[in-house]
Amino acid sequence: MKITVVGAGNVGATCANVIAHKELANEVVLLDIKEGTAEGKSLDMWQTAPINMYDSKIIGSTNDYSKTAGSEVVVITSGLPRKPGMSRDDLIATNAGIVKSVTENVIKYSPNAIIIVVSNPLDVMTYCAYLTAKAPKNKVMGMAGILDTARYRAFLATELNVSPKDIQAILMGGHGDTMVPLPRYTTVGGIPVTELVAKDKLDAIVERTKKGGGELVNLMGTSAWYAPGAAAAQMVEAIVRDQKRVYPVCAWLEGEYGLKDIFLGVPVILGKGGIEKIIELQLTADEKKLLADSAVAVKEVMDVLDKMEKVA
Ligand code: NAI
Ligand code: 2OP
Repeated sequence: MKITVVGAGNVGATCANVIAHKELANEVVLLDIKEGTAEGKSLDMWQTAPINMYDSKIIGSTNDYSKTAGSEVVVITSGLPRKPGMSRDDLIATNAGIVKSVTENVIKYSPNAIIIVVSNPLDVMTYCAYLTAKAPKNKVMGMAGILDTARYRAFLATELNVSPKDIQAILMGGHGDTMVPLPRYTTVGGIPVTELVAKDKLDAIVERTKKGGGELVNLMGTSAWYAPGAAAAQMVEAIVRDQKRVYPVCAWLEGEYGLKDIFLGVPVILGKGGIEKIIELQLTADEKKLLADSAVAVKEVMDVLDKMEKVA
């Protein structure tokens, strides 16, 4: 079993490190365009194997895709991260070129791979990889919902002074300020969160979650990597171990939730077939409106990509 992570920057290196620690594959390939970066980080990680007691091999590659051949899952993290003052959408032109060329190479050497996109703007870069890979819709997906839900769960755990393990939640929509956390589907050890947190506090946590990525960009001058890398690795784990986990994932919709021809975050069952099922929740009118607004925001950026594709 081989897993490739493209982009050996903050998110890619963290993701590869988690994949190796969890021994999700016997070979983890880390690839970057920057000479020596992937080789150096892979060697450094491999030297943690005797300390952390794992035997997944980590192999670095400077843009040599032949080393990725036959990968079962490929995580694409290559691209620019946000700087303070930038929105995720500001990255589209540069990152679309990167994601397109990376996907072409990935598919050339691993035609059957399941692709998980992380690069931003997430929903639209997933669309870009889908158009390029020409793979079935269940095999191309984006990572955002697990991260955004983890932020929401972490904020709630702090507020309630409880273990984050006991907070279950679902969140839908695009990976941006229009994302839709769903307090109605949030529980703390089985107890509805609305019984434990006052409405004004819960509203504040929902708002903080929506801007959770920006909060970290402002603190660090670049975007986050520990939680994003771990979240992408959790998707890899669900697939390679065929766990049938229920996660929010950026998926191609063909009529679900009344939405068509769009990549958007929805709850899915993730297993060895990739997205094995999209779960359709019975949303209230207010929740439906929030999801529709989020879809409009994502569609606008997808249209920018479609126009760029026509010019290219
Ligand atoms: P980074 O700058 O640390 O790493 C990006 C890496 O991509 C660099 O090492 C760079 O050399 C490499 N790269 C650039 N062009 C390449 C190409 N053509 N082929 C191979 N490698 C190439 O950035 P970081 O923090 O790792 O973020 C990566 C991307 O993930 C960004 O677009 C960021 O916005 C996005 N992101 C998405 C999240 C999500 O929830 N979906 C969360 C966090 C980051
Ligand atoms: C994040 O949410 C910027 O998408 C990145 O941390």
